[in-house]
Amino acid sequence: MFDIAVKNRIKELTQRYPEGKQKSALLPVLHLIQETNHKNSLSVEEMDAVAGELNITPIEVYEVATFYTMFNLKKVGRYVLEVCQTGPCMLRGSDAIIDHIKTKLNIENGETTEDGLFTLKTAECLGACGYAPMMQLGKHFKEHLTIEKVDALIEELRKA
Ligand code: FES
Repeated sequence: MFDIAVKNRIKELTQRYPEGKQKSALLPVLHLIQETNHKNSLSVEEMDAVAGELNITPIEVYEVATFYTMFNLKKVGRYVLEVCQTGPCMLRGSDAIIDHIKTKLNIENGETTEDGLFTLKTAECLGACGYAPMMQLGKHFKEHLTIEKVDALIEELRKA
């Protein structure tokens, strides 16, 4: 399932923890798989293989992968726009940002554009309320969003 480089990296990650505590490496291992499989998502087969690598049961992997929104369990676009919709961001206009993205990209929440570039997701508080409204884009936060900033970001990503 995983190539030798990925297997070695998994081994490295699990060795950070005491014997019998390999499950502690689950989050970094899932990130590793999602980042290196070029799909930006995790399949059931991959999660099962992770369970095998960490010597835990598949359900233990599913529990974690389905809980954290940073793991995608179905095919997503190259860029996942995760717009926070919790109270502080909502009060600062996140609804309008979400509506604008839907209209601009012609997708609904959870959908991916036909060109496979963008997926829109809404998220609960991402811990950056002071910079509302905001979104997460991969490992980066885009803060103090405006319609103009969103348009510029989308154009920038289209050219990347
Ligand atoms: Fe949006 Fe906290 S409410 S980051």
